[in-house]
Amino acid sequence: MQNSFLYKDNEYHVEDVPVKEIVKSVGTPCYIYSASALKKSFNLYREAFSSIDPIICYSVKANSNIAILRAFARLGAGFDIVSGGELYRVLSADGDPKKIVFSGVGKTNEEIKFAILSDILFINVESIEELSAMDITAKELNKKARVAIRVNPDIDPKTHPYISTGLRESKFGIEFDKALDVYKKASVMEGIDIVGVDAHIGSQIFDLTPFADSLKKLIELADLLCKEGIDIGYIDIGGGLGISYETDDIPPEPREYADMIISELGGKEYKLVLEPGRSLIGNAGILVTKVNYLKEGETKKFVIVDAAMNDLIRPAFYDSYHEILNVNESTEDEEIVDIVGSVCESGDFFAKDRKFPKVKRDDLLAILSAGAYGFVMSSNYNSRPRVPEVMVKGEEFFIVRERETIEDLIRGENIPDFIK
Ligand code: LLP
Repeated sequence: MQNSFLYKDNEYHVEDVPVKEIVKSVGTPCYIYSASALKKSFNLYREAFSSIDPIICYSVKANSNIAILRAFARLGAGFDIVSGGELYRVLSADGDPKKIVFSGVGKTNEEIKFAILSDILFINVESIEELSAMDITAKELNKKARVAIRVNPDIDPKTHPYISTGLRESKFGIEFDKALDVYKKASVMEGIDIVGVDAHIGSQIFDLTPFADSLKKLIELADLLCKEGIDIGYIDIGGGLGISYETDDIPPEPREYADMIISELGGKEYKLVLEPGRSLIGNAGILVTKVNYLKEGETKKFVIVDAAMNDLIRPAFYDSYHEILNVNESTEDEEIVDIVGSVCESGDFFAKDRKFPKVKRDDLLAILSAGAYGFVMSSNYNSRPRVPEVMVKGEEFFIVRERETIEDLIRGENIPDFIK
């Protein structure tokens, strides 16, 4: 965790604001983000890659709050989107359409139209049918759709299977061996303007070798296409760099990642596009929750908190580890506990068999590394209103999303006459 999150006088702070002060204002659970941590991560990328000046497209799916998007836009970031909703968010946050790339296997005609009319940098095409749909939509609009074809490089990124995307059996992209053919087809489509090649192999990746292997394949393809007279300006290598969730995790620094990429590119003129999400925002956010009850089961001790799997689903979904701290630095003896939420599912846990300093009712706990794939994956399961999000900068904090009310829960629902 970067030093925007730290204990001062035994109390956990986000930058210069005590977590307790934020909780007094918005209650628990709540997400808290550090504007400085986000800026620091972005600048690490920018500096590492400065010699080739790539387009760093922050991957909106990691955290799409419009204040976060505005912060990245002001830092000069572009955006990687996967839906019309994300495009709307980026435009609302004043993101530059000329730095937006659009991936996803199931783009609708409306989404394609929205992207073409917004004049985004390019759309990553994931199938031949999608390519035809794009051609038709562009022609209807009397425009051309700028595209890159997402290829599936068949590379194992050695990460959780749910977040591996570049394997032969995965639903993403077009088989590498078929790519040349598809590019040739695309090159004669009136509505299509080919500008790049693209791949994304997965997420939370610690080993640089799969990235290098994927980039080699993209360069090989781009060179071949150029030889065939199909002009390639951009190589989009996707996102995926991992972050540290546990103290033993040592992911590659953006600098090492950049050095590898720059050396693979070997001075070739392609403009590089990156799509990092987690490595820009993951460690810039925490989820704060309150201890509701302590309960001794027959074989286990449970700490029951007021956040649950609907607020942060990563432990339940991927069995992922998140560091947890007591907001009041604790000197209590440690005991082995499960830290769990109150949703009616056994999978609703934040930590299992975790050594943790003894807590009491009403203690505040901070669940770390929750900035990416946290709030965005939250739901109203068990009819729980979604929690607020707060952004901190120095001594100031601002509520960037309000807590939902119970009235919000039934908004848009109607009871038909035939059961009245
Ligand atoms: N580009 C594309 C096409 C992607 O599919 C993704 C993530 C990214 C970029 C950003 O990847 P990152 O730099 O954040 O690794 N919910 C999961 C992660 C799913 C990632 C999906 N794709 C989790 O909580 O671990």
